[in-house]
Amino acid sequence: MLTEAENEALVRVGPGTSMGELMRRYWMPALLSRELSEPDCPPVRVRLLGERLVAFRDTAGRAGLLSEFCAHRGASLWFGRNEEGGLRCVFHGWKYDVDGNCLDMMNEPDAFDFKAKVHLRAYPTVEAGGLVWAFMGPPERKPPPPAFEWTQAPETHRYVDKTWEECNWLQGLEGGLDTSHVPILHRRFEEGSPQPGVDASAPLVRGRAPEVVVETTGYGYRYFGVRELASDEVYVRGYHFVMPFTQIRPGADFTGGDLVAGHMWAPMDDHNTMVYNWEYSLTDAMEDPQAVARELGSGPGEVDDRFRKARNQDNDYRIDRALQKTGTFTGIFGVNTQDHAIQESMGPIADRTVEQLGQADRAIITARKLLLDAAQAVADGGEALGASASVDGLRAADRVLARASDWHAAMLAEMHADGARA
Ligand code: FES
Ligand SMILES: [Fe+2]
Repeated sequence: MLTEAENEALVRVGPGTSMGELMRRYWMPALLSRELSEPDCPPVRVRLLGERLVAFRDTAGRAGLLSEFCAHRGASLWFGRNEEGGLRCVFHGWKYDVDGNCLDMMNEPDAFDFKAKVHLRAYPTVEAGGLVWAFMGPPERKPPPPAFEWTQAPETHRYVDKTWEECNWLQGLEGGLDTSHVPILHRRFEEGSPQPGVDASAPLVRGRAPEVVVETTGYGYRYFGVRELASDEVYVRGYHFVMPFTQIRPGADFTGGDLVAGHMWAPMDDHNTMVYNWEYSLTDAMEDPQAVARELGSGPGEVDDRFRKARNQDNDYRIDRALQKTGTFTGIFGVNTQDHAIQESMGPIADRTVEQLGQADRAIITARKLLLDAAQAVADGGEALGASASVDGLRAADRVLARASDWHAAMLAEMHADGARA
């Protein structure tokens, strides 16, 4: 349970808010690289940390991220023409490059050189892992570009997409750090036929209620859900939480290979979140990357061109009550859609002053504390926790181990590409 002030401090992300300022110390996923399909392609609207932005790819292939609104009189640059080396506002023809420099003004005489005085808000970008990332904080605080194992995996070994979640970012993150819900919310019954293309007989998680073990690190924490199996074994799932909104978890083993997956919950504004979903193979190329989308519920026909779910709160996620009796616990298609339905059902911003948390919520409680402490540190002029920490090589795993064995040592060796560094 939190105080109202703590909840407010965690959920608000606009400029000048405590969480908004913390988030502006990390590279933010802004959009998928494939949304900017080629040089001079149409611009794309981006909503990030409460700001309205426009992304474009210039003639040289560079990704730009500018304020959506023209510096002249505020027309939306989404209507702009993406021309030779810049994005031109169609109202009076002011043209901007990826750095926000004004290159040309069609309605001002050249002699005044007014354009030299004009600059539009622009954020630096990098591309990695099939995403365009932006840094929205003070330039002198810019950390090294994101370098997760998954962002460096070959394209053939990786799947990435995104889905718009219609609630506050923290509800999404907390769902992702809550291992105890997985075999409940996402349960499927063998006798049912839950989803086309998904193996009904493969349980997502084995065993009963987990013991949750959380270990803080320089980037956030790693944690383990330890579940006793009926035999003399335990089933252990290891996760990482990377500040401020990344989860790394074991992948579902339905495409072949040794899979690691995760999400990032990038706040669009206080009431909307863009969830980036990724999975990659540690061994072979992914045979059927679309299987990931089918499992998550983000495949063809499931999201519109703004990444809003076809199954959404307006149609009760097309819940199938017959399927709920015999096929899946929720009767809702898609693992992510199940998460979104439940997280959105808590309202645009969950009221954390009235909840009752147990030992299964230990990972959530720790994440809130890290976030609040980190926001305070930034407000006090300090460094943001983990902004410059190395996350290269972090990976997640699940294993069935003998109860008598040292499960912790065995899991640590699996949680990093270089087992010794875990
Ligand atoms: S509003 Fe964009 S050029 Fe005038
Ligand atoms: Fe879930």
